[in-house]
Amino acid sequence: MEVVIVKDAKAGGELIADGIAGLLRRKPDALLGVATGSTPLPIYDALTARVRAGSVDASRARIAQLDEYVGLPAGHPESYRSTVLRQVVEPLGLSADQFMGPDGSAEDVQAACEAYDKALAEAGGVDLQILGIGTDGHIGFNEPCSSLASRTRIKTLTEQTRVDNARFFDDIEQVPHHVITQGIGTILEARHLVLLATGEGKAEAVAQTVEGPVAALVPASALQLHPHATVVVDEAAASKLKLADYFRHTFANKPAWQGI
Ligand code: F6R
Repeated sequence: MEVVIVKDAKAGGELIADGIAGLLRRKPDALLGVATGSTPLPIYDALTARVRAGSVDASRARIAQLDEYVGLPAGHPESYRSTVLRQVVEPLGLSADQFMGPDGSAEDVQAACEAYDKALAEAGGVDLQILGIGTDGHIGFNEPCSSLASRTRIKTLTEQTRVDNARFFDDIEQVPHHVITQGIGTILEARHLVLLATGEGKAEAVAQTVEGPVAALVPASALQLHPHATVVVDEAAASKLKLADYFRHTFANKPAWQGI
C-alpha cells in the first residue's frame, strides 16, 4: 500500500486526477469506478479542468458507480445515479450510455446486485476505483463487520453513516436505511484502488486502515490485501499515522515516472 500525504484536499484531487489522466492516455476507454460524498469532489473538479483545458481526452472513458441508495425514486437529486451524472458524467462531457450503476429502485434487489457484479465483469472490470472512507472505516457502504469477500449486495447503514449523510437531505428521516454497495470482494477486483481521505474526522479511520490489522471491523483495511492500493490523505487525516514521516520520505524520493 502506498500512502501519500498531501497539503490539502485540492492537492489530493490534483494528484489523483493526474493518475487518472495517465491511465486514460494508456487506456482511453478505461472503466473508472467513482465514489460519491464530499471527499472526491476535488478529484472530479481537477479532472474536469484537465479535460476542458485539452490536456486529457476522457471522451471514451466509462464510469461505474460504487453504491446506491435503495428506495429513492428514480431521478431523486440525491440518488447516487443523479449525483454521479451531475458531478462526473456531465462535467466530463460523457453520455449516459458511458455510465453504469446498480438499480436501487429494482423490485428484486438481490437480482439487481447480482446483475451489477456481472455487468462490471462483462465490462472488463474496473481499472481504477476511487474510494472515500466513512468515519467508521467503511468503503462503499460496507459497514463494519462486512465480509472481506463480500459481493455487491444490500446493506443497512449504521446510524452514524445516516447522521453523516443527513447534510445532503432536508432532514435525517429522509436518509434511506438501505443501500446497494459493491462488496469488498468486488472492490478488490479493481486493478487500482485510490482512497482519498481529508479532514481530522477521518484520522482515526485512516490510521486503523493503514497501520492496524486487516479486520472486517475496519472494512477499508482490506486495501492492505490489494497489490496496487494508494491512500492519499491531507495533513489532518494523516495526523494519527505513526509512520507519517516514513510515508513523506518515500513519496518525496519516488521516481517521477512511477506516478501513483
Ligand atoms: C459513497 C461512498 C462512501 C463515502 C464515505 C465518505 O459513494 O463510497 O464510502 O466515500 O461515506 O463520505 P464523505 O466523502 O462525504 O465523507
